Amino acid sequence: PTKRLLQQTELAMLILGIESSCDDAAAAVLETTAPGIADIRSSTVANQDDIHRAYGGIVPELASRSHVVTIGPVIERALDGAGCRLVDIEGIAVTRGPGLVGSLLVGLMFAKGLAQASGVAMVGVNHIEGHLLAPLLENRITMPYLALVVSGGHTALFAVEDFGRYRRIGSTRDDAAGEAFDKVAKLMGLGYPGGRAIDEMSRRGNRKRVRIPRAHVRGAPMDFSFSGVKTAVATILASEDGRAGRPEDLAASFQEAVVDMLVKPTIAAARELGADTIALTGGVAANSRLRDRLAEAAVADGRRLVAPALEYCTDNAAMIALAGGYRLIRGERDPLSIDAQANLAL
Ligand code: KG4
Ligand code: ZN
Repeated sequence: PTKRLLQQTELAMLILGIESSCDDAAAAVLETTAPGIADIRSSTVANQDDIHRAYGGIVPELASRSHVVTIGPVIERALDGAGCRLVDIEGIAVTRGPGLVGSLLVGLMFAKGLAQASGVAMVGVNHIEGHLLAPLLENRITMPYLALVVSGGHTALFAVEDFGRYRRIGSTRDDAAGEAFDKVAKLMGLGYPGGRAIDEMSRRGNRKRVRIPRAHVRGAPMDFSFSGVKTAVATILASEDGRAGRPEDLAASFQEAVVDMLVKPTIAAARELGADTIALTGGVAANSRLRDRLAEAAVADGRRLVAPALEYCTDNAAMIALAGGYRLIRGERDPLSIDAQANLAL
């Protein structure tokens, strides 16, 4: 037993995750023992919604300026929350793309500084890989599994075949689903970001009241298209009838259309892949109707849905630490010369 204990401690690695690709500055401490298996010791996020709300969208310059101020304290809070200090950290995982280049640079430079000063290994992580692996933070899932990533910037289906092996099997042809939520919320005067407001409003609305056409990409059953629903809502709001209707009904009808358009391709992809598990991830995974409907559809099809807790659906650093962690425990490291890449491919 002594030997086994020793091996366990030797394998456990304390990893600091840093994320600043968009408008959230986040840090987390994870204790990882094997690829994809980790104990979340802490996870903190500094949200910037109050800064960007007045502009109705993210202002990149303001995002990076705010990161400069908050990233240090956010990391300190993560260390405090984990009950450890910088000298205890054995590896650093930081988002290097895709995202806003100014935002990415802040986290990356900070990580490089820490790695340089402490001499510990650092790896750069693809933000999307973080989202794809986030469902593993709290669940054991056997690979391959199907992941639906739905956020403000992305809407895509990926086969997660192994750590570091991901295959894109469908994606949006135009807007991301979160973008559609945000644009419709703006049209309806619900503020920014609007996904959550629409979700909450929809609970009091009639989902069948307003007719919203569903778009499907011809010949590509696993792709998505959301620009049409946004235009449909704009047209309705421009008409007298539309303006006279209850906003709750419009919100609920729009949300139901988006959910339909997400569920159908996802189930088609799960069938094609033969995946037992569908993992839902990204900020729109917070949507209550999407969670319910996708869970129902998965079970009806003999599969299960795994959706992370809300704090791990939206941008966070725990998922970045997990995605960098499997490489760090294998002894990998990136040179300190890696750069931020706004369009980093997976
Ligand atoms: O993953 P995320 O935090 O940031 C990136 O885009 O990477 O996702 C943010 C998106 C926003 O578009 C927001 O409106 C949407 O997630 N969102 C929601 C809900 N909560 C957040 N959309 C629909 N329903 C929600 N409950
Ligand atoms: Zn994200």
